[in-house]
Amino acid sequence: MNVGTMMIKSRRSVRKYKPSKIPPYVIQDVLDCGRLAPTANNVQPWLFGAITDKDLLRQIADLTDHGQFIAEATVCIVVFGRVGEKYYLEDCAAATQNMIIAFQNHGIGSCWVAGDKKPYAESMRELLNVPSEYTLVSLIPAGDPAEIANPPKKRLEECSFQNRYGDAGA
Ligand SMILES: Cc1cc2nc3c(=O)[nH]c(=O)nc-3n(C[C@H](O)[C@H](O)[C@H](O)COP(=O)(O)O)c2cc1C
Repeated sequence: MNVGTMMIKSRRSVRKYKPSKIPPYVIQDVLDCGRLAPTANNVQPWLFGAITDKDLLRQIADLTDHGQFIAEATVCIVVFGRVGEKYYLEDCAAATQNMIIAFQNHGIGSCWVAGDKKPYAESMRELLNVPSEYTLVSLIPAGDPAEIANPPKKRLEECSFQNRYGDAGA
């Protein structure tokens, strides 16, 4: 296994964090990895925020339905997409995953928390003073892992095929 795929395979959502600091250069590096994600027609229809203020983290957590742990994160990256762009959701999802893996490469645990389609998307935009042409796609709370879960995954044979689905052999 190479280092890149090992990082991808060892990632798990982390929802409990130790109260450690994350150096600013790490946050910048993670945001930069988001910036370099692929986008349809290279439109890059996004805006990323890095929230470290404890009061704001608490307010963000309180707005969500399944993200109370955001209050204990060291940082929460917020990913907003420009709604007028056809593929903003796919583009912002690609950036989100890039940043999750970037955190993992720095030894920092994180968790994708839903934003798109959630009733709190608009209040989150208003809370963070983000212009109205953007909408919340995801939140990525992150920190030094205090606990790492290991949810079961489908086996590769259950969710992949080669050539035509149902053909015998590989
Ligand atoms: C689009 C999306 C939305 C998610 N929303 C939440 C969420 O609101 N709260 C949460 O705790 N986890 C959320 N997750 C994380 C999933 O629960 C997690 O990825 C899944 O259980 C598999 O675990 P793993 O990430 O450790 O592989 C979300 C993941 C995705 C991709």
